[in-house]
Amino acid sequence: MLPSTAAQGADAPYVPTPQIVVDAMLRMARVGPRDYLIDLGSGDGRIVISAAKRHGARGLGVDLDASLLALANDAAGREGVAHLVDFRRQDLFHTDLAQATVVTSYLLPEMNLKLRPKLLDLAPGTRIVAHDYHFGDWPPDERETLRVPEKQVGDPGLSYVYLWIVPARVAGRWRAEVVGADGRAVPIGLEITQSFQAIGGHAEVPGRRTPLHGAHLGGSDIHFALDVTVGGVHRRHSFRGRVAGDTIAGAVAVREAGAWQEREWRARRVAAP
Ligand SMILES: C[S@@+](CC[C@H](N)C(=O)[O-])C[C@H]1O[C@@H](n2cnc3c(N)ncnc32)[C@H](O)[C@@H]1O
Repeated sequence: MLPSTAAQGADAPYVPTPQIVVDAMLRMARVGPRDYLIDLGSGDGRIVISAAKRHGARGLGVDLDASLLALANDAAGREGVAHLVDFRRQDLFHTDLAQATVVTSYLLPEMNLKLRPKLLDLAPGTRIVAHDYHFGDWPPDERETLRVPEKQVGDPGLSYVYLWIVPARVAGRWRAEVVGADGRAVPIGLEITQSFQAIGGHAEVPGRRTPLHGAHLGGSDIHFALDVTVGGVHRRHSFRGRVAGDTIAGAVAVREAGAWQEREWRARRVAAP
């Protein structure tokens, strides 16, 4: 039976994540040496310490339980990663997450829901990994089920690992421009709809309205295809770009005369939803 205790003021009891689930969480988040991972309610520190020891990441764990924080600090010293990690006695709801590239959670669903607006406000591309519990109707980008025979809590014998990638905010009206092979810029109006990372919408191209095909948003990276006439050529154009606030810049690929041609495109948001 895994230990389960609750510190004074804690919103969730202490239940450690089994090590094979920790490994799966870090793998799913593709944690590496450039990451700064924050574990919300860090218990004995195993997630932060594993991220440092196995993947070279820096990290922070916050918890309210002083005895767990002492265990985490001892373990960090023993594992030789004390220079990479920090454990603080702090309420997870009042923890500044702005520097995190990865946030981990093994908390109750209502706690995750309370944290959700703050997580959605983090830099696009920030990875959130949770053990067992999700974030309401925000669909995960990846999920995995693991068999964990010794686990008695939640669904006994099973652990669920979920990954979310914080999406850029792209909803609204955008004015885009693609430069054709003839050097002339073709104006395109984009109306993008968004629900978390799911996006869709349509484009206003000269004289016509056409849907966005295969629209996809991964953090700040946006992809979609449009059937448009650029430089006198009417074909499916495949757009990819990087969103930075109210601008997008990227490349459009189109197949012409048997070869792929790439052109620049950029867009500016002219109205929020
Ligand atoms: C289920 S345990 C997870 C421990 C660790 N993250 C892991 O996966 O092994 C939840 C932890 O959150 C801590 N906790 C609960 N409410 C908290 C709060 N408001 N602020 C900080 N820590 C909290 C508990 O003390 C406990 O250690």
